[in-house]
Amino acid sequence: MDKLIIQGGRPLRGVIPIQGSKNACLPIMAATLLAEAPCTLHGVPKLADIDALGVLLEELGVSVERRQRTLKLAVTDRSNCHARYELVRKMRASICVLGPLLARRGYARVSMPGGCAIGARPVDLHLRGLATLGAKIELDGGDVVARCQRLRGAEVFMGGPFGSTVLGTANVMMAAALAEGTTIIECAACEPEVEDLANFLNAMGARILGGGTPRIIIQGVESLSGCTHTVIPDRIEAGTFMCAAAITNGQVSLEPVRLDHLMAVVDRLRAVGVFVEKTATGVEIFSARQLVPADVTTQPYPGFPTDLQAQFMALTCLAEGNSVITEKIFPDRFLHVAELSRMGAQIRKEGPTAVVTGCKRLIGAPVMASDLRASAALVLAGLAAVGQTTVSRIYHLDRGYERIEERLCAVGADIQRVPDEVAIPQLAGAVA
Ligand code: UD1
Repeated sequence: MDKLIIQGGRPLRGVIPIQGSKNACLPIMAATLLAEAPCTLHGVPKLADIDALGVLLEELGVSVERRQRTLKLAVTDRSNCHARYELVRKMRASICVLGPLLARRGYARVSMPGGCAIGARPVDLHLRGLATLGAKIELDGGDVVARCQRLRGAEVFMGGPFGSTVLGTANVMMAAALAEGTTIIECAACEPEVEDLANFLNAMGARILGGGTPRIIIQGVESLSGCTHTVIPDRIEAGTFMCAAAITNGQVSLEPVRLDHLMAVVDRLRAVGVFVEKTATGVEIFSARQLVPADVTTQPYPGFPTDLQAQFMALTCLAEGNSVITEKIFPDRFLHVAELSRMGAQIRKEGPTAVVTGCKRLIGAPVMASDLRASAALVLAGLAAVGQTTVSRIYHLDRGYERIEERLCAVGADIQRVPDEVAIPQLAGAVA
C-alpha cells in the first residue's frame, strides 16, 4: 500500500487534462453484456475500479482488451452468470451487471453488496424495479438470485428516501432495453452518467427517450448490436481539480470539461469567491483573494454532487466565517471531518450537517484516507497546508483518480508517492 507525502503551500498553475468519467464507464462496460457484437469504448480512464469491473466481466464470459484508453469488449461465453462476493465486495458498482445478465441470459446471481465507509448502501430500489419488469428475485447465501423468461415493459418508480438511485436507474434501463413492450421509468436519476448510458444503449440499437431526465421511456427491442462510444469527461474529477486550484490560490485550466454538468459546483465556487471562466475547450479557475463562507447542500443532479462534498468542505476550512454543509444523499458521509480536524480545521458535526468555521491556515499532519472522495479532500487540504501532510491508505484514490500525484505535480504541487511501510514497534532484544 502506498502513501502520499505532500509539501503544502504551492499554488497550482497550468493545464490539467480531464479523463473520461469513471461513473459513466462502469455501467456502460456492464451494458456490453447485452450486446450480440463487440463494443469499443474510447476515453476509458486507467483506474483500479475499471480494472476490477474488467475482471468481473471476464469471469462472466466477456473478452476485455485494453489499448491505452480504448477498451474492446466482446461476449464470448454466456454460461457463467455469477458475480462472486470476492469481486463485488471490492467494488459496489458491480451490482450493475444484474440488469444486463437478467435481461440477456434470463438468470443472474450477484453477491449482495455490503455497506461501505460512506454508510449503508441498500439495493432495494434496483430489486424492486427489476421485479416490476417481471423478474423473480430471492436472496440465497448473501447472493441476489434473479430469474425471468423475457422481461415485460412496465411503469417503474425509482425514487427513494434519498432521491433517485443512479445505478438503480441504470440497471432498470439496461434490463428494459431488451424487455417486451414499453417501460416508463418515473423519478429516474438525471445524472449525466445515466444520459451517457442511454446514448450508448441507443448506439447499440436500443430505443430510449429521455435519458438524463426524470422520465425515461424505453421501447424494448429483440436484440442489441455492438457500437463505438466515447465516454463523457469526468465531472467529479474536474470538480476536484477546481477545488485544488482554488484551495492553493492558483490558476488552472481544465480540459475537456462539460461545464453544463457542473453548474451547481460552479455556483458554489463563485459563492466562496473563486473565479470560474468557461474557455473554448474547458474551464479556467483562478483564486487570489480571501475566501468567503458559503453553505452547500448535496442533492441529486443537477444539485451539488455528494461526490464533491468532502473536497468542497476542505475548501471552506479556509474561508473566513461559518459554512454549513448538509449531506442529503449519504447522511453519514463525514469520515473526512475527523482527519481534516487533525490538520487544524474547525468543524462541528450535527447529524447530516457540518458547520465549518474557517481558519487562517491548515497545518500539515499524518492523515488517513477512508474512502475515495474523502481521500481527495485530504490531498487538497495537504496542498494548502503549511508543512508536510502524509495521506496513508491511498488505494482509495487510485480507484477514482488516475495518477493524481503526477498530474498535480505537473502543475506545481510537491507530492511524492512512497510505500506505506507500517513500522511495528518491538521491545529491545526481541527476536523477529
Ligand atoms: C452512484 C455513484 C456514486 C455517487 C452516488 C450518488 C457510481 C458508480 N457511483 O452510486 O459515486 O456517490 O451515485 O450520486 O456511479 N438507495 C436506496 N436504495 C437503493 C439504492 C440507493 O435507498 O436501492 C439510496 C442510497 O443509500 C443513497 C441514495 O439512494 O442514499 C443514492 O444512492 P445511489 O444513487 O443508488 O448511489 P449509487 O448509484 O450506488
